[in-house]
Amino acid sequence: ARKFFVGGNWKCNGSVQQVNDLVSMLNQSTLSTDTEVVVCPSQVYIQGVAEKLRKDVGVGAQDVWTQGNGAFTGETSADMLSDMGVGWAVVGHSERRGKGEPDAEVAAKAKYALDKGLKVIACCGEPLESREAGTTNEFVFPQIKAYADAFTKEDWKNVVIAYEPIWAIGTGLTATPEQAQDTHADIRKYLGEIAGAEVAEETRILYGGSATAATAGGLSAKEDIDGFLVGGASLKPEFADIVNCNG
Ligand code: 13P
Repeated sequence: ARKFFVGGNWKCNGSVQQVNDLVSMLNQSTLSTDTEVVVCPSQVYIQGVAEKLRKDVGVGAQDVWTQGNGAFTGETSADMLSDMGVGWAVVGHSERRGKGEPDAEVAAKAKYALDKGLKVIACCGEPLESREAGTTNEFVFPQIKAYADAFTKEDWKNVVIAYEPIWAIGTGLTATPEQAQDTHADIRKYLGEIAGAEVAEETRILYGGSATAATAGGLSAKEDIDGFLVGGASLKPEFADIVNCNG
């Protein structure tokens, strides 16, 4: 069975005070041991969070570079993250792809991070035009294919996929459980074709896009929805309710 997974993507939010408050909130919350939990603070707060956060909650970076240390101004290497005890990295978030990161670069970031011992939250998701034109799979499958081309079967053990329809992110327009389930099932089937039945069966596929405590229960009841990548609601106490929604 795939262990339920809830990630909190704090995006470009927080202050010293707010980050300390969020860590205290998480440290005091009752979090289901049946859920794997990872939070992804801004890179500038990541070391403090990694030091102060309870150890049963993982810490992830919101992005990672394709290579090791060097003359790459503004980037963060997987080497640095693993040096700081950060266990995870998000790659391919639409808020970064939108700046012009091609699928192959996203996959290269993920592969380098995996090679350095990090685990990866590999994002994908379509814009509204694709959803409306009925071409969601045509948009999402190449993103999945780029990951599969870069990963070995072993690598997939350290990867979760986050399906985040762009039209649902930050809009309050959560995908319906049926919409999300259909796409998750399609992604899983496609993964089976390109990476094998075992990878398809074992890889967790998270939903992201205006997930809240109110919508998490209905989504998580669906067979192929194995958790969430939460933005806005991960900055609020309701994040714990999303973590615990599957009990
Ligand atoms: P929201 O939950 O704020 O819509 O953001 C989702 C997301 O982009 C998580 O990575």
